Amino acid sequence: MTSANADWDARATSFDDEPDHGLRDPEVRRAWAGRLRDWLPGRAGDVLDLGCGTGSLSLLASEQGHRVTGVDLSPAMVTLAREKLAGRDAVFLVGDAAAPPVGEQRFDVVLVRHVLWALPDPARALGHWSGLLRPGGRLVLVEGVWGSVEPVGIPADRLIGLLAPIAGQVRVERLSDDPLLWGGEVTDERYAVVAPARASGQERGEVAPTGE
Ligand SMILES: C[S@@+](CC[C@H](N)C(=O)[O-])C[C@H]1O[C@@H](n2cnc3c(N)ncnc32)[C@H](O)[C@@H]1O
Repeated sequence: MTSANADWDARATSFDDEPDHGLRDPEVRRAWAGRLRDWLPGRAGDVLDLGCGTGSLSLLASEQGHRVTGVDLSPAMVTLAREKLAGRDAVFLVGDAAAPPVGEQRFDVVLVRHVLWALPDPARALGHWSGLLRPGGRLVLVEGVWGSVEPVGIPADRLIGLLAPIAGQVRVERLSDDPLLWGGEVTDERYAVVAPARASGQERGEVAPTGE
């Protein structure tokens, strides 16, 4: 994983060279497609892919029948994503994942892979994303901690803590022990969290208004 301040425009043309980015190897692609099928709803829905990069996960979601909106801060990434999903029911916007420019549109899934850890205020972003979900929607977050000397990322325990006030019961899936996802063995912490939106009236700490 690179630094939080990477020049993503400069990295866009070679981004897909990494096995888990471009998903060019059929086995790697199949591995991600299988996970995604498990994380996304069984019926076609609206998926918001934030920090979508070149659109590799967007394409898998589209192939599984979902309508996709992708948002990325890097115009070069957005150009490549548009090319990758040309002719599909998908739109790509340049914008900040922390406050995506989607107006009043609401989604069945907010999908975010390897982006949350680098945002300046992850808790605030998660709160905003949960507000973009339709009732019954879910956050699908793929994150990790990379490197051993100066590790970067967000540990699963911390992310689960951040989700506690805004999500229902979360599911955590360890991804480190599946080399097919990464094109080889990895030893660092990699995981996915599927976090359903909390049903209305079940917000943690919610208190019924009194005296009004
Ligand atoms: C490690 S890449 C992940 C790309 C994609 N999610 C994937 O898994 O293939 C990080 C992406 O997040 C984008 N990004 C970083 N900060 C962002 C922000 N604040 N808002 C939107 N996109 C951002 C970068 O331009 C880059 O495309």
